[in-house]
Amino acid sequence: MCGIVGYIGKKEVVPILLEGLSKLEYRGYDSAGVAVCQDGKVTVRKNKGRLSVLEENLSVKKISGTLGIGHTRWATHGEPNDVNAHPHENTAGNIAVIHNGIIENYMKLKEWLIEEGKVFKSETDTEVIAHLIDYYFEGDLVLAVQKSVAKLEGAYAIAVISKSNPNQLVAVRKDSPLIVGVGKGENFVASDIPALLKHTRDVYFLDDGDIAILTQDDIKILNEFGGEVKKEVFNVTWDVKAAEKGGYQHFMLKEIYEQPNAIKETLSPRIDNEGNIDLNEINLTKDDLKEINKIVIVACGTAYHAGLVGKYAIEKFAKIPVETDVASEFRYRDPFIDKNTLFIAVSQSGETADTLAALREAKRRDAKIIAVTNVVGSRISREAEDVFYTWAGPEIAVASTKAYITQLVSMYLIALDLGLKRGTLSKGKYKSVIKELREFPDKAEKILNNVSPIQELADKQFNNQSVFYMGRGIDDYVGREGSLKLKEISYIHSEAIAAGELKHGTIALIEEGILIIAVATQEHLYEKMLSNIKEVKARGAYVIAIAKENQIEIEKTADKVLYIPETINELTPILSVIPLQLLAYYIAVARGCDIDKPKNLAKSVTVE
Ligand code: M6R
Repeated sequence: MCGIVGYIGKKEVVPILLEGLSKLEYRGYDSAGVAVCQDGKVTVRKNKGRLSVLEENLSVKKISGTLGIGHTRWATHGEPNDVNAHPHENTAGNIAVIHNGIIENYMKLKEWLIEEGKVFKSETDTEVIAHLIDYYFEGDLVLAVQKSVAKLEGAYAIAVISKSNPNQLVAVRKDSPLIVGVGKGENFVASDIPALLKHTRDVYFLDDGDIAILTQDDIKILNEFGGEVKKEVFNVTWDVKAAEKGGYQHFMLKEIYEQPNAIKETLSPRIDNEGNIDLNEINLTKDDLKEINKIVIVACGTAYHAGLVGKYAIEKFAKIPVETDVASEFRYRDPFIDKNTLFIAVSQSGETADTLAALREAKRRDAKIIAVTNVVGSRISREAEDVFYTWAGPEIAVASTKAYITQLVSMYLIALDLGLKRGTLSKGKYKSVIKELREFPDKAEKILNNVSPIQELADKQFNNQSVFYMGRGIDDYVGREGSLKLKEISYIHSEAIAAGELKHGTIALIEEGILIIAVATQEHLYEKMLSNIKEVKARGAYVIAIAKENQIEIEKTADKVLYIPETINELTPILSVIPLQLLAYYIAVARGCDIDKPKNLAKSVTVE
């Protein structure tokens, strides 16, 4: 959740750290800090608040040096304040540490270190790492870090500098992301690629237990047993602009507008000239498929909503029973999984702690594992047997949009492929769905070319205290995603319900003027949805419906209709979510919210 950046080289380190942190602010933004090693001392500056507060501080009280570490925090232990901000130091202030993750046994370690005379300043778990390294330090920083991490339980990505080692930056990871950037006469560490793109495109992905030892001209990586490892350099091919706002007011809006292209990027490498799906990244033979008697899709948040649509698509096209579960629940329910289960982990970041833990649980039970993820080299991608990359490009806004849409497309591709291979889907239907999918970049574009009705609605509806989403079948799943988008960026309370469930409780909350978003794209459920709309309208609700272009008679029932282009029932979620994303976005704009950095949230949730 927190962002880490470290530099060793010949240049002034502070601007490099601040620039890197600005690219990582999506990971956490309640405080930020840097530590710089120069002139025989380590100087720390840190502040509660956004990175701009730290920038201001550093512009007044300048520090200089060519070795340093920087951190942007998402608080877990201790409230966001100056003291709890990273970096943390040992008692003498000559070792500085930044950390992303949670040290689960920190209380025990803290008690012991206090008995040993170490003086703690903060409430954080991280501070124990600085004192531990100090405890074990006898001149060799690497050895002290190795001995310290051997004592730690939990998840961590850590970067350390010490006054005694002014030519060394040491970093280590376990269960939290960390990469090493390879430069010329300079080297870097960071939580994520965008922090490094300005300086280098060559990176090493660290594995759990790896320790990276960086000097200006060298990078040495040791595994958890102390043996040196030779890793392949990964060359990042992203366009730098992909991780910048490019004239849009917010990353979220930019990413919403990137969706037509993102759909194309997900589809094109998988559909051949004859219009057939070629998923060479998934090694499932016909024999494997015969063995599989169940599919389990596990994910969190928005990715979970994509998993729900995945369940629908796979059951529809491939006729295999599918369970979709939230990752935080999955592994604690003693899931019924064995070697005949196909387990699909869906995660934009590929680093979500709960999803990763669920994947490991499924592996332990011998399931076959596929990851659907957006981030190349992410932990989840490396622990799965097969990886299906969604190719959405970097998603920076905390609220996921283009990653979600590409997850949906991925789910459909997997479902269609399974359906054909299992013989549960006719070639004709298979071809016609693929043909339709290929129209989606244009259909998505069409929605994005007409946003003013959505903006107008947002300007009228932004003051609601509470908003309900309702739908049936896959429309319900889309409603859940719309509801999540709204609550996370606008802070309006919102709930999504299966429309048929309305009269089993939620209808008690419907009163004059309450806003209901009714997703009603499914022909076979259309009449039922109309009845549900009438029921809430009879109690005074204001209803915005999402419908297909040819369903104009819904205007007689709903107060306002937002249309999506005509398409087949099975595929509507890819289109119907777009007006919901835009509605959430413009409502949040009207409420003056900090859309790309919603309160209490972070982009990748690397703690349980
Ligand atoms: O990186 P992941 O896809 O694993 O992240 C899962 C959720 O944390 C994420 O989708 C979250 O719900 C988003 N903020 C939703 O916009």
